[in-house]
Amino acid sequence: MVEGVDVGWDRIREGFSLDPAIAYLNHGARGAVPVAVQRAQQRVRDEGETNPIRYFRDLPDRIAHTRRHLASFLGADPEGAALVGNTTIGAAIVLQSLGLRSGDEVLLTDHRYGAIAFTAERECRRTGATVRTVGVPLDASDDEVTATVTQALRPGRTRLLIVDQISSPTARLFPVDKIAAAAREREVPVLVDAAHVPGMLPVSVDAIGADFWVGNLHKWAYAPRGTALLSVAPHWRDRIDPLAISWEQGTGYPARVEWQGTLDYTPWLAAPTGLFVLRTLGADRVRAHNAELAAYGQRVVGAALGLTPEELPDPGSPELAMRILPLPAGVATTFEAAERLPERIERELSAVVGVMSWSGRGWLRLCGQVYNRREEYDRLAERLPAFLRGLR
Ligand SMILES: Cc1ncc(COP(=O)(O)O)c(C=O)c1O
Repeated sequence: MVEGVDVGWDRIREGFSLDPAIAYLNHGARGAVPVAVQRAQQRVRDEGETNPIRYFRDLPDRIAHTRRHLASFLGADPEGAALVGNTTIGAAIVLQSLGLRSGDEVLLTDHRYGAIAFTAERECRRTGATVRTVGVPLDASDDEVTATVTQALRPGRTRLLIVDQISSPTARLFPVDKIAAAAREREVPVLVDAAHVPGMLPVSVDAIGADFWVGNLHKWAYAPRGTALLSVAPHWRDRIDPLAISWEQGTGYPARVEWQGTLDYTPWLAAPTGLFVLRTLGADRVRAHNAELAAYGQRVVGAALGLTPEELPDPGSPELAMRILPLPAGVATTFEAAERLPERIERELSAVVGVMSWSGRGWLRLCGQVYNRREEYDRLAERLPAFLRGLR
């Protein structure tokens, strides 16, 4: 495989189907699938339609092969890895496999992803357990984060700690290896929500030492949507229950979890082409480019909004390709207001951005990707201040 073929950044946008009239600055939300990967998926679909029964007969082997490939990319034990549709599904599988009971609790931080919290709440409602949230200050150091989360654990009662590796509303890297070690000492199982990790950061899942780790390949690893990997520590594997029982029930983990009846499994089979794209462009080069652009965006848009460098949240690592900055007081302070704003920004400023409401205020989230240019952030910086003034 060729690592780092020198394709000029100017040409790379042609490798995506993105609307050229829009600055697409929120890759973290839904990813963007390179054309080469779309084609690979379509080839698998075409092939499947030539003889669907034969295609489904061969699928278990092809899925197993793909799973080994993706697990090795992520440094996860292939025996403990299961392909799942997305991080939300992976978290639901873990939560429903725990055997929660009345009096138990699931602990999350206030940086968690909303749908994962809803999943935990539903499982707790069903079982009589409770959800508790620990607040982690945005400017806490890694040691402070670890100490805050560790102190919130109640051994014997906390049956699961869910912690993000890269948080969604705050775009922050959490010291998940240190947190997992502290939780292990207290015999509290840990689920790492690593939705944004595959592709954005080099990772060795097994070295983190969590009981469960789940990450999307359809965000930063260029896989078709519907591709995530759930990694489960050995002592849990027999206890992991799929969401739906299928013909693979007797096969054991991981096929039992992966197989969910007659579904479209083509995203998984095309996912290795996403890794091929990443490696062909040069994973290190892509990561450096993306992180530099996200930091640039945070700086120029922040300056345009009158923010000093000290007011720009530190992502906890310069390697993150996703940054946030505070919006003026009163803007997007509620979930509903934050949800409405991106559509207006897209319509009026031709830019796709993330807007989050977190800790009582609104935040703008900007990402960097291979198809982005500095000029796109410059243009947003020029136009956003007047747009935001018009909201008040
Ligand atoms: C931290 C985090 N967890 C979970 C998810 C859910 O991902 P999916 O919708 O692919 O399940 C996201 C999506 O953005 C996320 O940012």
